[in-house]
Amino acid sequence: MSDRPKVGKRWRGVTAIATYRGDGYVTKKYRASCDKCVARETKALVLLGSSAHSPDLIRVDGNSLDITYAGERATAANIPKDVEEQCQGFLDDMAKAGLVHRDIMPGNLLVLDGVLMVIDYGWCVPVEDVNQKAPGGLGDRFRSKDGFDDKYSLDKSIAHIKSGG
Ligand SMILES: Nc1ncnc2c1ncn2[C@@H]1O[C@H](COP(=O)(O)OP(=O)(O)OP(=O)(O)O)[C@@H](O)[C@H]1O
Ligand SMILES: [Mg+2]
Repeated sequence: MSDRPKVGKRWRGVTAIATYRGDGYVTKKYRASCDKCVARETKALVLLGSSAHSPDLIRVDGNSLDITYAGERATAANIPKDVEEQCQGFLDDMAKAGLVHRDIMPGNLLVLDGVLMVIDYGWCVPVEDVNQKAPGGLGDRFRSKDGFDDKYSLDKSIAHIKSGG
């Protein structure tokens, strides 16, 4: 895994930077002001511990999360053939955990060894809190006009990826 490229981006009005550490895990460091995101992401990754479609949480240290490497951005070239079944598997895991992601979009979908991985749980909440305060742009154009709906966002994101977007 040591030949994997560094992932993530520089601080530029963003809330977090993820960096590949070179030995199979990524450190996602949130800005100091984002402790609620850290708490939401930590809780979600713990609750999704047995899901094949989310990275594992290794360690939390202040505003830094160490999580397992979840692959490369999903593209028309690497999208798994059975992606629809895998999406359903992810939605089932979310339902079992009682969570709604709220920020599903192509940039948060990765592929690792043929498995669709969903990352970025900073705005993920228990289903009963689905309408809890969230940034207006959350979910981007993949968000349903009727509110947060992970299935809608996932279907729209996959269609976008398959069409080469
Ligand atoms: N576990 C991971 N494995 C591989 N790459 C990752 C992982 N976590 C994050 N990344 C990479 O880092 C990028 C940013 O991570 P993430 O989506 O979790 O943060 P973000 O909340 O979108 O950041 P921001 O709020 O700054 O936009 C992802 O788009 C992906 O390229
Ligand atoms: Mg993201």
